[in-house]
Amino acid sequence: MKRRHFLIGSGATLALATLPVRLSAGNDAFRLHAAPASRNLVGEQYGDTEVWAYNGRIPGPVLRYRQGEELHVKVENGLPQGTTVHWHGIRLPHAMDGVPHLTQPPIEPGDTFVYRFPLPDAGTYWYHPHASSSEQLGRGLSGVLIVEEPDPYPVDRELIWLLDDWRLNPDASIREDFGHRHDESHAGRIGNTVTINGRLPQDVELRPGERLRLRLVNGANARVFQLDFGDLAPWVIATDGHPVQPWQPDDGRVVLGPSMRADLLLDVPPNARAPITVVDDFYPQRAYELVNLVVAGEPQRTSPPDDIPRLRPNPLPEPDLEQAGEHEILLTGGAMGGMHEAYLDGVLLSMRELVQAGKFWAMNGVTAHGHHMRPMLTLKLNASYRIRLVNDTAWPHPMHLHGHTFRVLSRNGRVLEHEEWRDSVLLNARETVEIGLVADNPGDWMFHCHVLEHQESGMMGLFRVA
Ligand code: C2O
Ligand code: CU
Repeated sequence: MKRRHFLIGSGATLALATLPVRLSAGNDAFRLHAAPASRNLVGEQYGDTEVWAYNGRIPGPVLRYRQGEELHVKVENGLPQGTTVHWHGIRLPHAMDGVPHLTQPPIEPGDTFVYRFPLPDAGTYWYHPHASSSEQLGRGLSGVLIVEEPDPYPVDRELIWLLDDWRLNPDASIREDFGHRHDESHAGRIGNTVTINGRLPQDVELRPGERLRLRLVNGANARVFQLDFGDLAPWVIATDGHPVQPWQPDDGRVVLGPSMRADLLLDVPPNARAPITVVDDFYPQRAYELVNLVVAGEPQRTSPPDDIPRLRPNPLPEPDLEQAGEHEILLTGGAMGGMHEAYLDGVLLSMRELVQAGKFWAMNGVTAHGHHMRPMLTLKLNASYRIRLVNDTAWPHPMHLHGHTFRVLSRNGRVLEHEEWRDSVLLNARETVEIGLVADNPGDWMFHCHVLEHQESGMMGLFRVA
Protein backbone atom coordinates (compact mmCIF):
# COMPACT_ATOMS: atom_id res chain seq x y z
CA MET A 1 0.00 0.00 0.00
CA LYS A 2 1.35 3.37 -0.95
CA ARG A 3 0.79 6.81 0.34
CA ARG A 4 -0.54 8.81 -2.58
CA HIS A 5 2.13 11.39 -3.09
CA PHE A 6 2.43 13.73 -5.93
CA LEU A 7 5.94 12.88 -7.13
CA ILE A 8 6.86 12.03 -3.56
CA GLY A 9 5.25 15.20 -2.36
CA SER A 10 6.71 15.41 1.12
CA GLY A 11 7.01 18.85 2.62
CA ALA A 12 3.75 20.04 1.18
CA THR A 13 2.20 22.80 3.19
CA LEU A 14 -0.67 22.21 5.57
CA ALA A 15 -4.07 21.60 4.08
CA LEU A 16 -6.20 24.39 5.46
CA ALA A 17 -9.90 24.00 5.51
CA THR A 18 -11.55 26.62 3.37
CA LEU A 19 -13.16 29.22 5.58
CA PRO A 20 -16.89 29.23 5.02
CA VAL A 21 -18.72 32.30 3.88
CA ARG A 22 -21.89 32.64 5.88
CA LEU A 23 -24.61 34.11 3.74
CA SER A 24 -28.05 35.15 4.67
CA ALA A 25 -31.17 36.23 2.88
CA GLY A 26 -30.04 39.79 2.41
CA ASN A 27 -30.71 41.63 -0.81
CA ASP A 28 -27.14 41.64 -2.03
CA ALA A 29 -26.16 38.75 -4.22
CA PHE A 30 -22.96 36.95 -3.32
CA ARG A 31 -20.51 37.36 -6.18
CA LEU A 32 -19.06 34.20 -7.66
CA HIS A 33 -16.41 34.97 -10.23
CA ALA A 34 -15.26 32.06 -12.41
CA ALA A 35 -11.87 32.75 -13.97
CA PRO A 36 -8.39 31.36 -14.59
CA ALA A 37 -6.08 31.56 -11.56
CA SER A 38 -2.78 30.21 -10.28
CA ARG A 39 -2.92 28.03 -7.21
CA ASN A 40 -0.49 25.81 -5.40
CA LEU A 41 -2.05 22.38 -5.12
CA VAL A 42 0.83 20.05 -4.38
CA GLY A 43 3.40 21.94 -2.33
CA GLU A 44 5.85 24.79 -2.58
CA GLN A 45 8.60 22.74 -4.19
CA TYR A 46 6.45 22.49 -7.28
CA GLY A 47 5.18 25.42 -9.21
CA ASP A 48 1.68 26.74 -9.06
CA THR A 49 -0.98 25.13 -11.21
CA GLU A 50 -2.94 27.16 -13.73
CA VAL A 51 -6.52 26.34 -12.72
CA TRP A 52 -10.01 27.65 -13.28
CA ALA A 53 -11.41 28.82 -9.98
CA TYR A 54 -14.34 30.52 -8.28
CA ASN A 55 -13.15 33.73 -6.60
CA GLY A 56 -9.56 32.61 -7.16
CA ARG A 57 -9.91 29.73 -4.71
CA ILE A 58 -9.64 25.95 -4.99
CA PRO A 59 -12.17 24.74 -4.10
CA GLY A 60 -14.56 27.67 -4.45
CA PRO A 61 -15.83 29.37 -1.28
CA VAL A 62 -17.95 27.24 1.05
CA LEU A 63 -21.38 28.83 0.80
CA ARG A 64 -23.37 28.52 4.03
CA TYR A 65 -27.03 29.27 4.53
CA ARG A 66 -29.72 28.29 6.98
CA GLN A 67 -32.56 26.00 5.96
CA GLY A 68 -35.41 28.00 4.42
CA GLU A 69 -33.20 30.93 3.43
CA GLU A 70 -32.77 32.03 -0.13
CA LEU A 71 -29.62 31.42 -2.12
CA HIS A 72 -28.76 34.58 -4.01
CA VAL A 73 -25.60 34.39 -6.11
CA LYS A 74 -24.43 36.42 -9.05
CA VAL A 75 -22.14 34.41 -11.30
CA GLU A 76 -19.65 36.33 -13.41
CA ASN A 77 -17.98 34.46 -16.22
CA GLY A 78 -14.29 35.32 -16.60
CA LEU A 79 -13.56 32.06 -18.41
CA PRO A 80 -12.67 31.75 -22.09
CA GLN A 81 -15.85 29.72 -22.71
CA GLY A 82 -19.52 29.62 -21.72
CA THR A 83 -20.47 28.28 -18.30
CA THR A 84 -23.37 27.79 -15.87
CA VAL A 85 -23.62 26.84 -12.21
CA HIS A 86 -25.58 23.76 -11.19
CA TRP A 87 -26.56 23.54 -7.50
CA HIS A 88 -26.12 19.82 -7.16
CA GLY A 89 -28.74 18.08 -5.05
CA ILE A 90 -30.89 21.12 -4.28
CA ARG A 91 -34.61 20.74 -4.98
CA LEU A 92 -35.03 24.03 -6.80
CA PRO A 93 -37.16 25.60 -9.53
CA HIS A 94 -36.27 24.39 -13.01
CA ALA A 95 -35.11 27.81 -14.25
CA MET A 96 -32.40 27.87 -11.56
CA ASP A 97 -30.95 24.41 -12.29
CA GLY A 98 -28.01 25.68 -14.34
CA VAL A 99 -28.20 23.35 -17.33
CA PRO A 100 -27.09 25.17 -20.49
CA HIS A 101 -29.57 25.18 -23.40
CA LEU A 102 -32.16 23.45 -21.21
CA THR A 103 -32.84 25.72 -18.24
CA GLN A 104 -30.89 28.80 -19.38
CA PRO A 105 -28.54 29.91 -22.14
CA PRO A 106 -24.87 29.46 -21.25
CA ILE A 107 -23.35 32.45 -19.46
CA GLU A 108 -21.02 33.70 -22.17
CA PRO A 109 -17.53 35.05 -21.35
CA GLY A 110 -17.90 38.47 -19.74
CA ASP A 111 -21.57 37.89 -18.93
CA THR A 112 -23.33 37.36 -15.62
CA PHE A 113 -26.32 35.41 -14.37
CA VAL A 114 -28.17 35.70 -11.08
CA TYR A 115 -29.33 32.57 -9.30
CA ARG A 116 -31.96 33.05 -6.63
CA PHE A 117 -34.15 30.41 -5.02
CA PRO A 118 -35.19 29.10 -1.61
CA LEU A 119 -33.32 26.24 0.07
CA PRO A 120 -35.95 23.76 1.32
CA ASP A 121 -33.60 21.13 2.74
CA ALA A 122 -30.73 21.21 5.20
CA GLY A 123 -27.59 19.29 4.31
CA THR A 124 -24.31 19.02 2.46
CA TYR A 125 -24.50 19.99 -1.22
CA TRP A 126 -22.12 21.36 -3.81
CA TYR A 127 -22.01 23.53 -6.89
CA HIS A 128 -20.23 23.15 -10.19
CA PRO A 129 -20.53 24.12 -13.87
CA HIS A 130 -22.79 22.10 -16.16
CA ALA A 131 -21.08 23.22 -19.39
CA SER A 132 -18.04 21.33 -20.74
CA SER A 133 -18.21 19.62 -17.39
CA SER A 134 -15.25 17.30 -17.82
CA GLU A 135 -12.94 20.21 -18.57
CA GLN A 136 -14.47 22.86 -16.28
CA LEU A 137 -14.54 20.60 -13.22
CA GLY A 138 -11.26 18.99 -14.22
CA ARG A 139 -9.63 22.43 -14.13
CA GLY A 140 -10.93 23.11 -10.64
CA LEU A 141 -14.41 24.66 -10.69
CA SER A 142 -16.49 23.41 -7.78
CA GLY A 143 -17.37 24.31 -4.22
CA VAL A 144 -19.34 23.14 -1.20
CA LEU A 145 -22.81 24.46 -0.37
CA ILE A 146 -24.01 23.88 3.17
CA VAL A 147 -27.54 24.39 4.39
CA GLU A 148 -27.62 24.38 8.18
CA GLU A 149 -30.31 22.76 10.26
CA PRO A 150 -32.34 25.15 12.45
CA ASP A 151 -30.98 23.43 15.56
CA PRO A 152 -27.28 22.65 15.52
CA TYR A 153 -26.24 18.99 15.54
CA PRO A 154 -24.49 18.19 18.83
CA VAL A 155 -20.83 17.67 17.92
CA ASP A 156 -17.61 19.23 19.16
CA ARG A 157 -16.38 20.15 15.72
CA GLU A 158 -17.31 19.99 12.09
CA LEU A 159 -14.93 19.17 9.25
CA ILE A 160 -15.61 19.64 5.56
CA TRP A 161 -13.65 17.62 3.02
CA LEU A 162 -14.13 18.21 -0.65
CA LEU A 163 -12.30 15.28 -2.20
CA ASP A 164 -10.93 15.89 -5.66
CA ASP A 165 -8.67 14.21 -8.11
CA TRP A 166 -6.38 15.88 -10.65
CA ARG A 167 -4.45 14.71 -13.67
CA LEU A 168 -1.17 16.58 -13.44
CA ASN A 169 2.07 16.69 -15.40
CA PRO A 170 5.38 16.40 -13.50
CA ASP A 171 5.56 20.21 -13.32
CA ALA A 172 2.13 20.28 -11.60
CA SER A 173 0.37 21.69 -14.66
CA ILE A 174 -2.96 20.15 -15.63
CA ARG A 175 -2.78 17.61 -18.40
CA GLU A 176 -4.72 18.95 -21.32
CA ASP A 177 -6.03 15.62 -22.55
CA PHE A 178 -9.70 16.40 -21.95
CA GLY A 179 -12.13 14.41 -24.07
CA HIS A 180 -9.74 11.47 -24.31
CA ARG A 181 -11.53 8.47 -25.84
CA HIS A 182 -9.94 5.94 -23.56
CA ASP A 183 -11.24 7.86 -20.53
CA GLU A 184 -14.66 8.16 -22.10
CA SER A 185 -15.01 4.48 -22.92
CA HIS A 186 -13.43 3.17 -19.69
CA ALA A 187 -13.48 4.52 -16.13
CA GLY A 188 -13.45 8.25 -16.95
CA ARG A 189 -10.75 10.82 -16.26
CA ILE A 190 -9.16 9.38 -13.16
CA GLY A 191 -6.28 11.57 -12.07
CA ASN A 192 -2.91 10.92 -10.46
CA THR A 193 -3.24 13.32 -7.52
CA VAL A 194 -5.92 13.36 -4.84
CA THR A 195 -6.56 16.53 -2.86
CA ILE A 196 -8.69 17.43 0.15
CA ASN A 197 -10.00 20.98 -0.05
CA GLY A 198 -7.63 21.67 -2.92
CA ARG A 199 -4.38 20.67 -1.21
CA LEU A 200 -2.37 17.51 -0.98
CA PRO A 201 -3.64 15.94 2.26
CA GLN A 202 -1.54 16.63 5.34
CA ASP A 203 -2.03 15.32 8.86
CA VAL A 204 -5.32 16.33 10.45
CA GLU A 205 -5.31 16.77 14.24
CA LEU A 206 -8.06 15.27 16.35
CA ARG A 207 -8.49 15.34 20.12
CA PRO A 208 -9.06 12.16 22.11
CA GLY A 209 -12.75 11.71 22.87
CA GLU A 210 -13.76 14.32 20.34
CA ARG A 211 -17.07 13.95 18.50
CA LEU A 212 -16.92 15.16 14.91
CA ARG A 213 -19.25 15.68 12.03
CA LEU A 214 -17.41 15.11 8.79
CA ARG A 215 -19.07 16.44 5.67
CA LEU A 216 -17.66 14.54 2.72
CA VAL A 217 -18.14 15.55 -0.91
CA ASN A 218 -16.75 13.65 -3.87
CA GLY A 219 -15.98 16.39 -6.39
CA ALA A 220 -13.82 14.22 -8.66
CA ASN A 221 -14.63 13.79 -12.35
CA ALA A 222 -14.52 10.01 -12.21
CA ARG A 223 -12.81 8.59 -9.13
CA VAL A 224 -14.88 6.54 -6.69
CA PHE A 225 -13.67 6.73 -3.09
CA GLN A 226 -14.08 3.94 -0.57
CA LEU A 227 -12.81 5.26 2.73
CA ASP A 228 -11.79 3.00 5.57
CA PHE A 229 -11.62 5.01 8.81
CA GLY A 230 -10.18 2.14 10.82
CA ASP A 231 -10.99 2.40 14.53
CA LEU A 232 -13.25 5.40 14.03
CA ALA A 233 -16.16 3.20 12.88
CA PRO A 234 -18.20 6.00 11.33
CA TRP A 235 -21.97 6.44 11.54
CA VAL A 236 -23.67 7.71 8.42
CA ILE A 237 -26.10 10.44 9.52
CA ALA A 238 -26.99 11.87 6.11
CA THR A 239 -26.72 10.66 2.51
CA ASP A 240 -26.44 13.21 -0.31
CA GLY A 241 -27.38 15.84 2.25
CA HIS A 242 -30.50 14.21 3.64
CA PRO A 243 -30.76 13.00 7.23
CA VAL A 244 -31.20 9.25 7.66
CA GLN A 245 -31.68 6.96 10.62
CA PRO A 246 -27.96 6.64 11.55
CA TRP A 247 -26.37 3.45 10.27
CA GLN A 248 -22.92 1.93 10.19
CA PRO A 249 -21.61 0.63 6.88
CA ASP A 250 -21.08 -3.14 6.94
CA ASP A 251 -17.30 -3.25 6.79
CA GLY A 252 -16.82 0.28 8.10
CA ARG A 253 -16.12 1.60 4.62
CA VAL A 254 -17.85 4.66 3.24
CA VAL A 255 -18.29 4.54 -0.54
CA LEU A 256 -18.70 7.78 -2.46
CA GLY A 257 -19.11 7.83 -6.23
CA PRO A 258 -18.52 11.11 -8.04
CA SER A 259 -20.93 13.84 -6.84
CA MET A 260 -22.07 11.86 -3.81
CA ARG A 261 -21.94 13.17 -0.25
CA ALA A 262 -21.98 11.64 3.18
CA ASP A 263 -22.28 13.24 6.59
CA LEU A 264 -20.45 11.11 9.12
CA LEU A 265 -20.50 11.07 12.88
CA LEU A 266 -17.04 10.15 14.19
CA ASP A 267 -16.19 9.50 17.82
CA VAL A 268 -12.48 9.54 18.50
CA PRO A 269 -11.83 6.92 21.20
CA PRO A 270 -10.94 8.76 24.43
CA ASN A 271 -7.87 6.56 24.90
CA ALA A 272 -6.70 6.83 21.29
CA ARG A 273 -3.11 8.00 20.93
CA ALA A 274 -1.85 6.41 17.73
CA PRO A 275 -2.58 8.09 14.43
CA ILE A 276 -5.52 6.77 12.46
CA THR A 277 -4.87 6.37 8.77
CA VAL A 278 -7.76 6.78 6.36
CA VAL A 279 -7.27 4.38 3.46
CA ASP A 280 -9.03 4.53 0.11
CA ASP A 281 -9.20 1.05 -1.37
CA PHE A 282 -11.98 1.26 -3.93
CA TYR A 283 -9.56 0.17 -6.66
CA PRO A 284 -7.96 -2.78 -4.85
CA GLN A 285 -4.74 -2.73 -6.90
CA ARG A 286 -4.35 0.97 -6.21
CA ALA A 287 -5.18 1.28 -2.54
CA TYR A 288 -3.44 4.24 -0.91
CA GLU A 289 -3.35 6.15 2.35
CA LEU A 290 -5.46 9.25 1.89
CA VAL A 291 -4.69 11.09 5.11
CA ASN A 292 -3.41 10.60 8.65
CA LEU A 293 -5.55 11.62 11.58
CA VAL A 294 -3.22 12.47 14.44
CA VAL A 295 -4.72 12.23 17.91
CA ALA A 296 -3.23 14.82 20.25
CA GLY A 297 -4.05 17.20 23.08
CA GLU A 298 -6.29 17.12 26.11
CA PRO A 299 -9.12 14.58 25.94
CA GLN A 300 -12.44 16.16 25.06
CA ARG A 301 -14.22 13.64 27.27
CA THR A 302 -13.24 10.47 29.09
CA SER A 303 -15.91 8.11 27.84
CA PRO A 304 -17.64 8.17 24.47
CA PRO A 305 -21.15 9.65 24.33
CA ASP A 306 -23.64 6.79 24.33
CA ASP A 307 -26.26 8.30 22.05
CA ILE A 308 -26.19 8.59 18.27
CA PRO A 309 -28.46 11.57 17.65
CA ARG A 310 -30.55 11.70 14.51
CA LEU A 311 -30.80 14.84 12.40
CA ARG A 312 -34.27 16.18 11.91
CA PRO A 313 -35.58 14.86 8.56
CA ASN A 314 -35.98 17.14 5.58
CA PRO A 315 -39.51 17.68 4.19
CA LEU A 316 -39.12 15.06 1.45
CA PRO A 317 -42.18 13.51 -0.19
CA GLU A 318 -42.44 9.81 0.65
CA PRO A 319 -43.11 7.69 -2.46
CA ASP A 320 -46.24 5.55 -2.30
CA LEU A 321 -44.67 2.27 -3.38
CA GLU A 322 -48.00 0.44 -3.60
CA GLN A 323 -49.43 2.85 -6.16
CA ALA A 324 -46.15 3.64 -7.89
CA GLY A 325 -45.73 3.57 -11.66
CA GLU A 326 -42.80 1.43 -12.80
CA HIS A 327 -40.01 2.04 -15.26
CA GLU A 328 -36.74 0.41 -16.18
CA ILE A 329 -33.61 2.09 -17.49
CA LEU A 330 -30.97 -0.08 -19.11
CA LEU A 331 -27.41 1.24 -19.19
CA THR A 332 -25.26 -0.15 -21.98
CA GLY A 333 -21.97 0.51 -23.72
CA GLY A 334 -18.36 1.18 -22.83
CA ALA A 335 -15.32 -1.03 -23.23
CA MET A 336 -16.12 -4.72 -22.77
CA GLY A 337 -19.80 -3.80 -22.89
CA GLY A 338 -21.03 -5.64 -25.97
CA MET A 339 -23.28 -2.79 -27.17
CA HIS A 340 -23.95 -3.14 -30.90
CA GLU A 341 -26.01 -0.11 -31.80
CA ALA A 342 -27.85 2.88 -30.41
CA TYR A 343 -29.88 5.86 -31.56
CA LEU A 344 -28.08 9.17 -31.91
CA ASP A 345 -30.31 12.14 -32.82
CA GLY A 346 -33.01 9.72 -33.96
CA VAL A 347 -30.75 7.66 -36.24
CA LEU A 348 -29.78 4.09 -35.43
CA LEU A 349 -25.99 3.81 -35.64
CA SER A 350 -23.67 0.83 -35.38
CA MET A 351 -21.12 0.73 -32.59
CA ARG A 352 -18.41 1.65 -35.07
CA GLU A 353 -20.38 4.73 -36.19
CA LEU A 354 -21.07 5.67 -32.59
CA VAL A 355 -17.37 5.48 -31.75
CA GLN A 356 -16.62 7.73 -34.73
CA ALA A 357 -19.12 10.20 -33.30
CA GLY A 358 -17.42 9.99 -29.87
CA LYS A 359 -20.36 8.12 -28.29
CA PHE A 360 -19.77 5.07 -26.12
CA TRP A 361 -22.82 4.80 -23.88
CA ALA A 362 -26.58 4.55 -24.14
CA MET A 363 -29.64 4.43 -21.91
CA ASN A 364 -32.61 2.44 -23.20
CA GLY A 365 -30.88 2.30 -26.57
CA VAL A 366 -30.37 6.07 -26.97
CA THR A 367 -27.10 7.94 -26.72
CA ALA A 368 -27.20 11.63 -25.84
CA HIS A 369 -25.84 14.54 -27.76
CA GLY A 370 -25.75 17.89 -25.98
CA HIS A 371 -28.41 18.88 -23.47
CA HIS A 372 -31.27 18.99 -25.97
CA MET A 373 -33.15 15.75 -26.30
CA ARG A 374 -36.50 14.06 -26.19
CA PRO A 375 -37.47 12.89 -22.71
CA MET A 376 -36.60 9.27 -21.99
CA LEU A 377 -39.35 9.16 -19.36
CA THR A 378 -42.42 11.29 -18.86
CA LEU A 379 -43.60 11.30 -15.25
CA LYS A 380 -46.88 12.61 -13.97
CA LEU A 381 -46.59 15.52 -11.59
CA ASN A 382 -46.90 14.37 -7.97
CA ALA A 383 -47.14 10.68 -8.89
CA SER A 384 -44.90 8.05 -7.26
CA TYR A 385 -42.53 5.88 -9.27
CA ARG A 386 -40.27 2.88 -8.81
CA ILE A 387 -37.44 2.94 -11.32
CA ARG A 388 -35.17 -0.04 -11.92
CA LEU A 389 -31.70 0.99 -13.05
CA VAL A 390 -29.93 -1.89 -14.75
CA ASN A 391 -26.20 -1.54 -15.32
CA ASP A 392 -25.39 -3.90 -18.17
CA THR A 393 -21.83 -2.57 -18.47
CA ALA A 394 -18.43 -3.46 -17.04
CA TRP A 395 -18.04 -0.11 -15.23
CA PRO A 396 -19.44 1.68 -12.18
CA HIS A 397 -21.81 4.59 -12.86
CA PRO A 398 -22.98 7.18 -10.30
CA MET A 399 -26.41 8.02 -11.75
CA HIS A 400 -27.66 11.49 -10.83
CA LEU A 401 -31.16 12.95 -11.12
CA HIS A 402 -31.71 16.70 -11.05
CA GLY A 403 -34.45 18.48 -9.11
CA HIS A 404 -35.50 15.49 -7.01
CA THR A 405 -34.40 13.29 -4.14
CA PHE A 406 -35.08 9.57 -4.28
CA ARG A 407 -35.02 6.65 -1.93
CA VAL A 408 -32.69 3.76 -2.74
CA LEU A 409 -34.92 0.70 -2.33
CA SER A 410 -32.88 -2.36 -3.30
CA ARG A 411 -29.64 -3.62 -4.80
CA ASN A 412 -29.69 -6.73 -6.98
CA GLY A 413 -33.15 -7.47 -5.61
CA ARG A 414 -32.07 -7.24 -1.96
CA VAL A 415 -34.03 -4.67 -0.01
CA LEU A 416 -31.75 -2.15 1.71
CA GLU A 417 -31.69 -2.52 5.47
CA HIS A 418 -30.77 1.07 6.12
CA GLU A 419 -32.37 4.33 5.07
CA GLU A 420 -30.80 6.03 2.08
CA TRP A 421 -32.02 9.20 0.33
CA ARG A 422 -29.98 10.30 -2.66
CA ASP A 423 -29.71 12.38 -5.77
CA SER A 424 -26.91 10.14 -7.11
CA VAL A 425 -26.73 6.40 -6.73
CA LEU A 426 -23.66 4.34 -7.54
CA LEU A 427 -24.34 1.29 -9.70
CA ASN A 428 -21.50 -1.19 -9.67
CA ALA A 429 -20.71 -3.16 -12.80
CA ARG A 430 -23.65 -5.41 -13.76
CA GLU A 431 -25.65 -4.24 -10.78
CA THR A 432 -29.37 -3.46 -10.64
CA VAL A 433 -30.62 -0.79 -8.24
CA GLU A 434 -34.22 0.18 -7.65
CA ILE A 435 -35.12 3.70 -6.58
CA GLY A 436 -38.42 5.24 -5.50
CA LEU A 437 -39.47 8.85 -5.83
CA VAL A 438 -42.31 11.31 -6.09
CA ALA A 439 -42.09 13.34 -9.30
CA ASP A 440 -43.06 16.55 -7.55
CA ASN A 441 -40.96 19.14 -9.37
CA PRO A 442 -42.26 20.18 -12.79
CA GLY A 443 -39.82 20.52 -15.67
CA ASP A 444 -37.33 18.67 -17.83
CA TRP A 445 -34.64 17.24 -15.56
CA MET A 446 -31.28 15.75 -16.45
CA PHE A 447 -30.63 12.17 -15.51
CA HIS A 448 -27.01 11.28 -16.19
CA CYS A 449 -23.88 9.52 -15.13
CA HIS A 450 -21.68 11.78 -12.97
CA VAL A 451 -18.53 10.27 -14.41
CA LEU A 452 -18.33 13.40 -16.51
CA GLU A 453 -16.60 11.67 -19.41
CA HIS A 454 -19.41 9.13 -19.57
CA GLN A 455 -21.97 11.91 -19.49
CA GLU A 456 -20.25 13.69 -22.37
CA SER A 457 -20.00 10.51 -24.43
CA GLY A 458 -23.69 9.70 -24.24
CA MET A 459 -24.79 8.55 -20.79
CA MET A 460 -27.37 11.24 -20.27
CA GLY A 461 -31.10 11.49 -20.59
CA LEU A 462 -34.03 13.60 -19.54
CA PHE A 463 -37.03 12.99 -17.30
CA ARG A 464 -40.02 15.18 -18.05
CA VAL A 465 -42.23 15.88 -15.05
CA ALA A 466 -45.55 17.39 -16.14
CU1 C2O B 1 -23.62 17.41 -10.41
CU2 C2O B 1 -26.01 17.15 -13.73
O1 C2O B 1 -24.79 17.35 -12.07
CU1 CU C 1 -20.83 6.23 -16.07
